[in-house]
Amino acid sequence: MDPKKIAIMSNKGGVGKSTLASNIGAGLAKLNYKVLLIDLDGQNDSSLFLGIDENDYENTFFDLIDNRYPEKLENCIIEARKNLDLLPNDNMEKINAEFHRRSRIDIIMSELLSDLDYMDYDFVIFDCGPQRTKVNDAVLCYIDNIIMPVQVESASVRSIGYIYEYLDDLRLSRNLITLVVPNMYDARTNESQEILNLLKEIFSEEPDILTEPIMRRIKITEAGRAGKTIYEYDEKNAAKMFDRIVNKVVDKID
Ligand SMILES: Nc1ncnc2c1ncn2[C@@H]1O[C@H](COP(=O)(O)OP(=O)(O)OP(=O)(O)O)[C@@H](O)[C@H]1O
Ligand SMILES: [Mg+2]
Repeated sequence: MDPKKIAIMSNKGGVGKSTLASNIGAGLAKLNYKVLLIDLDGQNDSSLFLGIDENDYENTFFDLIDNRYPEKLENCIIEARKNLDLLPNDNMEKINAEFHRRSRIDIIMSELLSDLDYMDYDFVIFDCGPQRTKVNDAVLCYIDNIIMPVQVESASVRSIGYIYEYLDDLRLSRNLITLVVPNMYDARTNESQEILNLLKEIFSEEPDILTEPIMRRIKITEAGRAGKTIYEYDEKNAAKMFDRIVNKVVDKID
């Protein structure tokens, strides 16, 4: 069976893409799904949120695109947790430059990742940077689901349209957007409540897209900084919010 291919994408920076990528990955792994997290965030955040830095690996996604001596995919992947593997990155600018040179952006990713056919992953999750880049173009042409975090504040909500424009420009279906996750919700403020209502209005025709919000919690920031998943750092509380999202992923995507 082909793995389900998910991009965590938003054209806004700092809204929780890497946090979702690493913790949805960890949540699915905990349910015994085999997950590959592909970190294509230029700051390596989802790797760092799993406590993994450049001392822990030799090869990265970059080694797959070496024109003369491409590395085998399996040699670029490391085990991050039980059932959760990681394909880290470096040299994102060079990867982008190389993707610019290739003529068929729509098939690059399936070529580079063709060995996935022989591996037994249930989910492949891409953590993406916020900009429109050739790398993100290639990811969008490859995946079949997008999970989009939206920070619960007005500027972030205004930027929702960008991802639809992005898909239109690539001639891809808007239906790729499977889940929209309101993040950093603060129940104490009226603004948060109003913006959540606005999100419900925006997605009123397909309410199933919108998940329950993830609250703004210092434990979530701390977990990332400590290189721990939310399941390791705050199993009793914050992990429950991520479990709701993970269950939705299983419901809608598996
Ligand atoms: N619900 C939350 N509560 C508290 N802190 C959060 C929450 N979600 C994310 N954060 C923190 O906010 C910061 C930005 O999150 P993250 O790195 O996941 O965003 P991003 O969208 O991947 O950013 P970038 O666009 O730079 O890749 C991080 O320090 C993260 O730990
Ligand atoms: Mg990120």
